[in-house]
Amino acid sequence: MTSCDCLGNAERRRRDFRELCEAGFISLEDSFFPTVHYPPITMYPPAGEDEIFEGYVNPADNLFVLYVHIPFCAKYCAFCHYPNKIGDLPEEKDRYLGALEKEMDIYMNRLGLRKIQARSILVGGGTPTFLSPGQLERFLAAFTSRVDFSRCTQFNYDVDPLTLIDKDGPRRLQLLRSYGVDRLTIGVQSFDDGILKKMNRHHTAEDAALAVARSQEAGFQVCIEFIYGYPGLTVEKWVKTMEKVVSLGVDEVHNYRLKIIPYGDNVGTIRSLFDREKDIFPSTEETLVMKQAAIDILNLNGYKENLTRVFTRSKNNYSHYASDQCCGLFDQIGFGLTAFSSLRDRFALNTQDLDEYYSLIGRGKLPLNRGLVRSRDDNIRWNIILPLKNRLVYKKYFFSRTGVHAEEVFKNKIERLKKHGLLFEDERIISLTERGRFFADEACHQFFHPSYIPFPKKSYSEAELNPYND
Ligand SMILES: C[S@@+](CC[C@H](N)C(=O)[O-])C[C@H]1O[C@@H](n2cnc3c(N)ncnc32)[C@H](O)[C@@H]1O
Ligand code: SF4
Repeated sequence: MTSCDCLGNAERRRRDFRELCEAGFISLEDSFFPTVHYPPITMYPPAGEDEIFEGYVNPADNLFVLYVHIPFCAKYCAFCHYPNKIGDLPEEKDRYLGALEKEMDIYMNRLGLRKIQARSILVGGGTPTFLSPGQLERFLAAFTSRVDFSRCTQFNYDVDPLTLIDKDGPRRLQLLRSYGVDRLTIGVQSFDDGILKKMNRHHTAEDAALAVARSQEAGFQVCIEFIYGYPGLTVEKWVKTMEKVVSLGVDEVHNYRLKIIPYGDNVGTIRSLFDREKDIFPSTEETLVMKQAAIDILNLNGYKENLTRVFTRSKNNYSHYASDQCCGLFDQIGFGLTAFSSLRDRFALNTQDLDEYYSLIGRGKLPLNRGLVRSRDDNIRWNIILPLKNRLVYKKYFFSRTGVHAEEVFKNKIERLKKHGLLFEDERIISLTERGRFFADEACHQFFHPSYIPFPKKSYSEAELNPYND
């Protein structure tokens, strides 16, 4: 362990925040809008299947990143914006699994494939393990029979702690392993029982630690996820959570800043709580201090920020799904409610409404209802935004995908960000500096087309880094 000037680092971040607000880089609306996709999925126009697939050809290597969404949960977490179905609902789950199988067949038909060759896989939700063992096996059998795993590098499943330690937990772990799942991402959110209660989570800190241990014993790589900036969370409580994290020997840690603005159609209860009782939320500066404290504790204990906000212990045990999707920008297919497909120059979003989902599939159609074929401008921006946000931009790769040089197209932006110590550039790469990475979401807003910048022009200081400046 090396030492850390943690108090100094926290103070530096507060200063950075104030300076960058003044420089027009951060919106004074004091809201957080993460850079997840480009353009943001919430801003896609309505679109139909034929429009999205017109002129599309499968990738030369025929490999697809795969995502499957299973939208069932035991309880509704107070921070969650996903349109999940809550409760046991065994018949609804059967109906959904049947629709999902049909959706995969419609998709394969559309692409002219007998099986889909997977590059990497994530099954998420919702809680995709909140199925009976019989239903879990039905899904795994149906899914794996449609997928060619010969070149698949990782099969990751998002799980919730209780589904691994309840009476069916051992069977679920065994089933996942026997169908080739090699990595589990467990939503822990906090190791403070008071905060878990406020979040309306249905597990305790002890349950979560037990779920981690059981997953490790069963031979999975383990990744755990947390939220900071939550009402009631203090820097002290958060530091305790991070100290617990580093004692568990997990492979990866994902830290999410609380999203109050939904990134989808459904609005979670956290939004109305914020509108009613803003004062119970940590301030932005406190939230940034939490973020820095986590970076310090994780770094000191051998976890490096491998992708932005993703801390990995060993270089080999990182999330292939995230890396393939966000850095490689490889073709990806999403199955299920709310899932998205990103197919080089086009992007499709499945419906967020379960009745519409069943109805479209019942008519033999893909359940997408929004999307776009990216314009040349959108495509160039997408090719810098996602790799920059998550890892770094290789100039040659950027050129091979866009036919233009990033350093020429974005010359002014790049120079300004470099001047403020936010960006690094050499002959090979463009990347965020340590200061830039701390504000990676806002750094990427700089490259958004004005029509997609999340906050209005007047909400940023009229200064050099106002993202509306060319
Ligand atoms: C799509 S969720 C599914 C995880 C799983 N159902 C669970 O809760 O255990 C993946 C992760 O996103 C994060 N997340 C969900 N809603 C969030 C929000 N409003 N703000 C920040 N992070 C959030 C949580 O850490 C969560 O574990
Ligand atoms: S956070 Fe996870 S468990 Fe909670 S409601 Fe959302 S998807 Fe379900």
